[in-house]
Amino acid sequence: MRRAKISIIGAGNVGATCAHWAAAKELGDIVLLDIPEKEGVAKGKALDLMQCGPIEEFDSRVTGTSDYKDIQDSDVVVITAGLPRKPGMSRDDLITTNVKIVRAVSEQVAKFAPGAVVIVVSNPLDAMVYTAWKVTGFPTSRILGQAGALDVARFRTFLAMELGCSVEDIQSLLLGGHGDDMVPLPRFTSVHGIPIDQLLSKEVIDRCVQRAKVGGGEIVQLMGTSAYYAPASGTIQMVEAIVKDKKRILPCAAYCEDAYGVSPGQKGQGYFVGVPCVLGSAGMEKVVEVKFQPEERKLMDESISHVKDLVSTVRKIFPDLA
Ligand code: NAI
Ligand code: 2OP
Repeated sequence: MRRAKISIIGAGNVGATCAHWAAAKELGDIVLLDIPEKEGVAKGKALDLMQCGPIEEFDSRVTGTSDYKDIQDSDVVVITAGLPRKPGMSRDDLITTNVKIVRAVSEQVAKFAPGAVVIVVSNPLDAMVYTAWKVTGFPTSRILGQAGALDVARFRTFLAMELGCSVEDIQSLLLGGHGDDMVPLPRFTSVHGIPIDQLLSKEVIDRCVQRAKVGGGEIVQLMGTSAYYAPASGTIQMVEAIVKDKKRILPCAAYCEDAYGVSPGQKGQGYFVGVPCVLGSAGMEKVVEVKFQPEERKLMDESISHVKDLVSTVRKIFPDLA
């Protein structure tokens, strides 16, 4: 049986940790690619990871490279190339630099891995997914952004910390963009089926919602750079759903027109917004819609509007990406 091939662009904190989780879960063979100046780092990390195989019991091959020929025939390409934020910066402050990087990477991905499903991780996420879509010209089903898998994991973690229960028993839904106006939804949150508002007060739930929204910033303040264990874990959760054709429903940045009222009736003028999706071997196989109450609708609209503002900034700075 042919093994899946997973290529990860950017062998920095998030990229290398993606390779780590993917190898540990033996999801396939892994290519870790960085710029020529960092080829040694990519090769060194790949070799180091391969040497975990005998201990952790995986046979995934991990290859470090700076040559895009090595990503040929990839089933999934994960883009983590780009600067992370530093304390005091918002994700949006990275826009000009990272559009240039994601654009250069996407050109190579389109050339060398034209059949791959692409998962973008670089920030500001919602603008970078748009950039990858425009540059690759891939169908929208094969372009996704990772944000919700991480953000909902943060929300579940904070709730479990308050409840003193297993994180595994908490189910939740989180929509919107990957900004501080993301939309965790307590009404769709339960603990082993028990609605969360039967177990925690509104004040505590609100505190967890707020902490999830600024969860990325909390870690930047502590470490001086952005998180990578959980972001990589969320990304590999998506990769696993795709390479195993699991049809998992996960929150992802996915292309929406009519869905969620993002750009109703405007063919080809949609946006990538965080929504629950069915993920399988074809990539994003379906957007799952939920019915909102007025307050939830308002929060979602605000988040969608932030995503649109980000994309319009990309279009202003780079008119050829309009
Ligand atoms: P990092 O600085 O550790 O790694 C980035 C890597 O990208 C570096 O090794 C760099 O050499 C490489 N790179 C730069 N230009 C490249 C190019 N043209 N081609 C190939 N590789 C290139 O940064 P880190 O922490 O890994 O973060 C990466 C990105 O992911 C950042 O933009 C960060 O904001 C974003 N991020 C997104 C999250 C999400 O949930 N969507 C969560 C955490 C980080
Ligand atoms: C995070 O949420 C910075 O997007 C990154 O940790």
